[in-house]
Amino acid sequence: MVRSWSLSSENILMKMCIRKLRLLKVCCIISFVTLITLTVLQRSSKTSQELQNISPRSSSAEDRLVSTFLNLFVPKDNFWSYQKTEPITTETRMVTAAKRETKEWDVVTANCTPNSNFTQADWFNGLEPNFKEFLQYRHCRYFPMILNHPEKCSGDIYLLLVVKSVITQYDRREAIRKTWGKEIVMDGKHVKTLFLLGTSSSGNEKFHHQKLLEYENIIYRDILQWDFLDTFFNLTLKEVNFLKWFSTYCENVEYIFKGDDDVFVSTENILEFLNVPPITNLFVGDVLQRARPIRRKENKYYIPEALYNKTYYPPYAGGGGFLMAGTLARRLYKVSESLDLYPIDDVFLGMCLEVFSLTPIHHRGFRTFGIVKNKSSKMNREPCFYKSIMVVHKLLPAELLRMWQVVHSNISCSKKMGVSIGAFPKPLQGL
Ligand SMILES: *[C@@H]1O[C@H](CO)[C@@H](O)[C@H](O)[C@H]1NC(C)=O
Ligand SMILES: *[C@@H]1O[C@H](CO)[C@@H](O)[C@H](O)[C@H]1NC(C)=O
Ligand SMILES: *[C@@H]1O[C@H](CO)[C@@H](O)[C@H](O)[C@H]1NC(C)=O
Ligand SMILES: *[C@@H]1O[C@H](CO)[C@@H](O)[C@H](O)[C@H]1NC(C)=O
Ligand SMILES: *[C@@H]1O[C@H](CO)[C@@H](O)[C@H](O)[C@H]1NC(C)=O
Repeated sequence: MVRSWSLSSENILMKMCIRKLRLLKVCCIISFVTLITLTVLQRSSKTSQELQNISPRSSSAEDRLVSTFLNLFVPKDNFWSYQKTEPITTETRMVTAAKRETKEWDVVTANCTPNSNFTQADWFNGLEPNFKEFLQYRHCRYFPMILNHPEKCSGDIYLLLVVKSVITQYDRREAIRKTWGKEIVMDGKHVKTLFLLGTSSSGNEKFHHQKLLEYENIIYRDILQWDFLDTFFNLTLKEVNFLKWFSTYCENVEYIFKGDDDVFVSTENILEFLNVPPITNLFVGDVLQRARPIRRKENKYYIPEALYNKTYYPPYAGGGGFLMAGTLARRLYKVSESLDLYPIDDVFLGMCLEVFSLTPIHHRGFRTFGIVKNKSSKMNREPCFYKSIMVVHKLLPAELLRMWQVVHSNISCSKKMGVSIGAFPKPLQGL
C-alpha cells in the first residue's frame, strides 16, 4: 500500500517534471524565435547602404558581431584604413553591458603625507630635489575632484578627445574648442572633448586662476580638475586619475584620443582611420621602440639610475597625441594600479602596456616627436602636410587657428600624401 502510494506519487512528480520541462522548452523556443525576428526586422529596416556603414558603436554585442562580419567583406580603399584587415578576435564587450551600476568619484580626501621610509638612504640623498619630492609623494595616486563632469560620458560616444592642459593656457583651450576640439556628430558618431587640469602652483595668483577656470568651466562645461599641483612630474597623476575617471563614468566610449594642448589634430583623418571593425586593443601613436632613459642631468627628461636602471624603456607612444580603444583604457586602469608611478607619463603608459604584452602601434600620421620648431621648415607652413596627418605637435594658438582655416578651405593637394603614411608595420599584437 505504502509502496504503491509512493510509486504513484513518484509518477505524479515525474509527470509534473516533464510538463515543466516541456514548458521550459516551449519558452526557450519562443524567445529564440522572437530574438531572431527582432534581429531580422532591425536589419531589414536599414538600407544596404546603411548596413555598410554600421558604426562600430551600435548598441549590442550582437550588433558588433554583425558589423564586424559585414566590414570584413566590404572592400576598403579608405586612405587611412589598415592595409590589411586583421581578423578581429571579438573579445566581446559584455564587460560593459554586464555591470551598469551608477558609480561616482570616490576620492574625497587627498590623504597625502610624504613617505619618509627611505629618506635616510644614501641613494635617496644623492638625488636632485625634484626626484626626492616625486619619490616622497609617489604613493599618493588619486585625488579629490574640484571640477567634474560625469554627464560628459552619458550616451554613446564614438571618440572622446582628452586634452592635457594647465590653468594659464586658456588661449590654447579656446583655439582647440574652435578647431579640432569642436564637439561634432559625424555620420551619427559623437565626438566630445574634455580638458584635464590640476591646480595652479603659482602662489599669489592661485586664487584668481582658480576663479577664472571656474568661470570658463561654467561657460564650456568641459573641464576636469583634480586637486593636485600641475607640475611636470605630476603629469602621470593626470594619466592615472583620468583612467580611473574614465573607468568610473564612461562605459560607452569607443575610442579615446589623448593629447597635449599645443597640437594640431585632424579629427576627420582620425575618424577615417578608425572606420574599420572595432578593435578592442587599439593603441596607436608616435611610438618609440627601444628608447633609452636620458642620463644627462640638464635634460627635461633626465632620469637617475636609482629610479630606472634598465637600458631601454618599453615601447611607448609619445604623449603629444595617441589613440586608444575605450576597452583598453579600462584595462590600463586596472594594470596601472599594480605599478609604481613613473615621472614621465607616456613612458608610464608604455610600462602598463608591457604588463599585458601589448605593443603600441606606430603610425606616421602621428607626429609628436622629431619635428623641430623651425620657422623656415616647410612642414610648418605647408597646409597639404597638415591635411595628411592626424597629429602634429608644437603650434601656438594663433598658428593652430590659421592652419585650421587654410586646411579647411578649398586648397587642393595633389594627393593626400604630403607625408606618406605607412601602414602598420606589424599586426596588432593581442592580449
Ligand atoms: C613605509 O614602510 C612601512 C613599513 O615597512 C610600510 O608599512 C608603509 O606602507 C611604508 N609607507 C609607504 C608610504 O610606502
Ligand atoms: C604633485 O601634487 C601633489 C599634490 O598637490 C604635491 O604634494 C606634490 O608636491 C606634487 N609633486 C610634484 C613632483 O610636483
Ligand atoms: C635595478 O633595480 C631593481 C629594482 O629597483 C633591483 O632589484 C636591481 O637589483 C637593479 N639592478 C641593477 C643592475 O642595479
Ligand atoms: C630649418 O629648415 C630648413 C628647411 O628645411 C633647413 O634648411 C634648416 O637647416 C633648418 N634649420 C634648423 C635650425 O634646423
Ligand atoms: C569650394 O569649392 C566648391 C566646389 O569646388 C564650391 O562649391 C565652394 O563654394 C568652394 N568654397 C569656398 C569657401 O571657396
